Amino acid sequence: MNPTTSPRILVTGPTGFIGKRLLYKLDEKDHRVRCLVRPPEELNLAAPLNNKPEIVYGDLLDPDSIEKALDGIEVAYYLVHSMGGKSFREMKAFEERDRKAAQNFVNAADKVGLKRIIYLGGLGEMADNISSHLASRQEVGKILSSGRAKATVLRAAVIIGAGGAGFEIMRYLVERLPIMLCPKWIYTRSQPIAVENVLDYLVGALETPETAADTFDIGGPEVLSYVDLMRMYARVRGLKRIIMGVPFFYTLLSTYWVALITPVPSGIVFPLAEGLRTPAVCRENRIQALIPLQLINMDQAICNALAEEEKGPGKLLSQQSCFLPSYD
Ligand SMILES: NC(=O)c1ccc[n+]([C@@H]2O[C@H](COP(=O)([O-])OP(=O)(O)OC[C@H]3O[C@@H](n4cnc5c(N)ncnc54)[C@H](OP(=O)(O)O)[C@@H]3O)[C@@H](O)[C@H]2O)c1
Repeated sequence: MNPTTSPRILVTGPTGFIGKRLLYKLDEKDHRVRCLVRPPEELNLAAPLNNKPEIVYGDLLDPDSIEKALDGIEVAYYLVHSMGGKSFREMKAFEERDRKAAQNFVNAADKVGLKRIIYLGGLGEMADNISSHLASRQEVGKILSSGRAKATVLRAAVIIGAGGAGFEIMRYLVERLPIMLCPKWIYTRSQPIAVENVLDYLVGALETPETAADTFDIGGPEVLSYVDLMRMYARVRGLKRIIMGVPFFYTLLSTYWVALITPVPSGIVFPLAEGLRTPAVCRENRIQALIPLQLINMDQAICNALAEEEKGPGKLLSQQSCFLPSYD
């Protein structure tokens, strides 16, 4: 392989919400990229990239395919999770799959001498009666940090952007239901972040060697409860909504209810809904000194996501309009 033309960056999860967007950000900077795509998926991009990425087919549950994908790579983005499925058993199996995938990745990385891993995981403390989804995200971060490659772990709460699972759940619920009685977790505090800022941090981590072998919390400028966020969405859209939390509304029940209302599969809704009981607020903001950014307000992030939905495949349900509040 010619070292001047070989790709130096591997993106795992390039068909996903974050991975696909990251490809465009890396392309803007002319990085040479290889994508690990899980068959039978294909990398369908909305617009062509300037530098066509190399595609390798593989699966993080298949160790040999990871070694091939990492050959000649210096830095790998780990943007994969295994949530999904429709049955309760499938929903519960994601932790084991994620553990295996991360361990396979570290083993292969050690064999080929990978230098850095950049992983986007979740916020939430183990002490706070943490959900299995958030515990699994922390576990993956620990496994990825246990090898010889220096891992940068970025921990985020819900990411606001068109096509993100958390954002889409909120969007469908608020668009479709004028009155919402929800589990009490809607009062849990969280620090959502705009997808544009997440991408800047992901690229910034690549370009900032001081972020290697460290963990950083990344968050937007506001700490909000989920009910605040849903009310903000309604306000931005000019919708009148009544949203309140009630006791005795169990996660499993709300999962099936949410899966009925939204197109997001129950295998993703269940672990995410369970995670909402855990506060997801940044413990520290060291990243801001290393990668200084203008953080996007959540109402603006919602508007950006809506504007993108209108152009893209996720057509909105009703007549679109986006009302940003006036700050004067
Ligand atoms: N979305 C959010 O709001 C949010 C918030 C905080 C943190 N994060 C973190 O951000 C990262 C990316 O999440 P996302 O929202 O982009 O997820 P996503 O849209 O669901 O994408 C997941 C990606 O993982 C790939 N994948 C799953 N299992 C795989 C395997 N065994 N081998 C290879 N690829 C596999 C999927 O490929 P297929 O297309 O083949 O299924 C897909 O490309 C995750 O670590 C997540 O925890 C996301």
